[in-house]
This record gives sequence, structure tokens and C-alpha cells, in this order.
Amino acid sequence: MKVLSIAIQKGGCGKTTTTINLAAALHKEGRSVLVIDADPQASLSLALGVRDDPEKNLYTELLKEMKGENGDLTDAIIYTNSGLPLVPATIELAGAELELVSIYGREQILAWMIDKLSDRFEFVIIDCPPAIGMLTVNALAASDYVLMPLQAEYLPLKGLHSFMHHFKAIQRINKKLQVLGMVLTRYDERKTMNREVYHELEHDFGDKVFRTHIRSNIQLARAQESGTDIFNFDDTSNGAHDYKELSVEFLSKI
Ligand SMILES: Nc1ncnc2c1ncn2[C@@H]1O[C@H](COP(=O)(O)OP(=O)(O)OP(=O)(O)O)[C@@H](O)[C@H]1O
Ligand SMILES: [Mg+2]
Repeated sequence: MKVLSIAIQKGGCGKTTTTINLAAALHKEGRSVLVIDADPQASLSLALGVRDDPEKNLYTELLKEMKGENGDLTDAIIYTNSGLPLVPATIELAGAELELVSIYGREQILAWMIDKLSDRFEFVIIDCPPAIGMLTVNALAASDYVLMPLQAEYLPLKGLHSFMHHFKAIQRINKKLQVLGMVLTRYDERKTMNREVYHELEHDFGDKVFRTHIRSNIQLARAQESGTDIFNFDDTSNGAHDYKELSVEFLSKI
């Protein structure tokens, strides 16, 4: 089982979109993938069609684990209409940011719970909130890899260097953690700025930068609004094409 966090502290750069559609592309290829919503905004849960707050969710299970009562992610799994199993989030998860702080092993609570899944899935993909708080730290401490989506609209390098600083600190807790790479989202080949961002990133991070770019595609946003992945929603869109290609590159890097 390989665990991947989709994380970067900047908001709105495609973390949730990448979680759903990379997972959906792998699922379509017959890989077994679990997605975990670790963001109290619950965008991933909403985008996979979960409308009412599920009774069991990441927060209820984290709370049990924090109290030493054996939290069980399997118990909270919902089978969404895209076929992807999901551990959903609710707004209550926001409370975990504070509650985790005073717990022994606070960085590793989620890692202990993911360990209990004991290879039931080939991949576990965690959608992180846009901040480096206890939830993101827990996700990274439970992961083999981190993937950072970056918007190609402006130079994302400052945020990236600050993220890498936190990354190195978390690597001391979780030695297996590696950067899988950065992927540019909302990419437009015609815009000079976008091409410049790509070249500058490649200059700084070499082959960590994915060759696949995710183009701007309104169908990606529409699929999310309708509660499903891009392949279910519009299999012929640029979004479906790009995320399929990303999944191929992803598998070649893993
Ligand atoms: N390639 C794309 N083309 C067009 N729209 C996109 C693309 N990627 C994401 N979006 C849209 O942009 C918005 C933000 O994307 P998303 O929710 O994936 O970002 P995020 O990094 O998860 O945000 P947050 O930090 O708030 O969790 C969403 O409405 C999404 O549908
Ligand atoms: Mg998100």
C-alpha cells in the first residue's frame, strides 16, 4: 500500500480536483484506491456527491483514536457514485486542529489508523487542507509521497520553498516520506507566464516537475459541482485526457 498526500499551503490550486481525478483515473485502470478527505471544508466529500454529513467520518474516527478507543477508517468508508471508496470529512474536523495539539503522538494519529488498513488498498490518497496545521502534518506523517499541485498563473516558488521547509521537518518524524513531484494546474500553453513558471520550476526542481500539465478546463469544475469525477462526467474533455495522462506518469514515478 502506497500513501500519497496531495498538499500545498496555498488555497484553490487544484488539490481536491487532483485527488478526485487522479484517484478516478487509477480506479478506472483497475487499481484499488481509497481517498481520504482531510480538509474540514469537505470539498472532496461534496465533489464526490456526499451531501449530508455522514455519521461516521474522519473526525469521529480520529477522536476515537485520540482517546485510545481504536478509531477505524474502514468503518467510515462510503462507496461514492464514481465507485471510489471515500473516508468523508465534515466541518467538525476543524476541531481536530486544536484537539490534536495536546495529545501524545499528535503527529502520528492518522498514520496509526492508516496502518490498520493493512494493505487493503493499493493506493491511499489524502486531500489536505490549504494550511500546514495538525491535519496536514498528520497526513504527511502517514504518507510515502507528497504531490504538490501548483497554479501556473504566477510564480509559485515562494510558497513552494516554505512548504519544503516544513516537509524537511516532517521527514524527521516520517523518514519514508518523499516528494513525488509538482504538477502544474490550470495550465495554458499560450500564456508566456505559464511556460515561464514551468521552466523556472524545472530549473529548481528538475525531474520532480511532472511533464503532464493539467490544462484549464471548465468541465473539471462542472464535474465537481455535479458530484462526480471527470471520467464519469465528460470522458472526452481535456480534463479527462490530462488526468489520465497524469495517472500514467504517476505510476511511472512510483
Ligand atoms: N484545471 C482546472 N481548470 C478549471 N478549473 C479548475 C481546474 N482545477 C481546479 N479547478 C476549479 O478551481 C477551484 C479550486 O480547485 P480545487 O478545489 O481543486 O483547489 P484546492 O487546492 O483543493 O482548494 P482548497 O485549497 O480550497 O482546498 C474549483 O472550483 C475547481 O473546480
Ligand atoms: Mg481542496
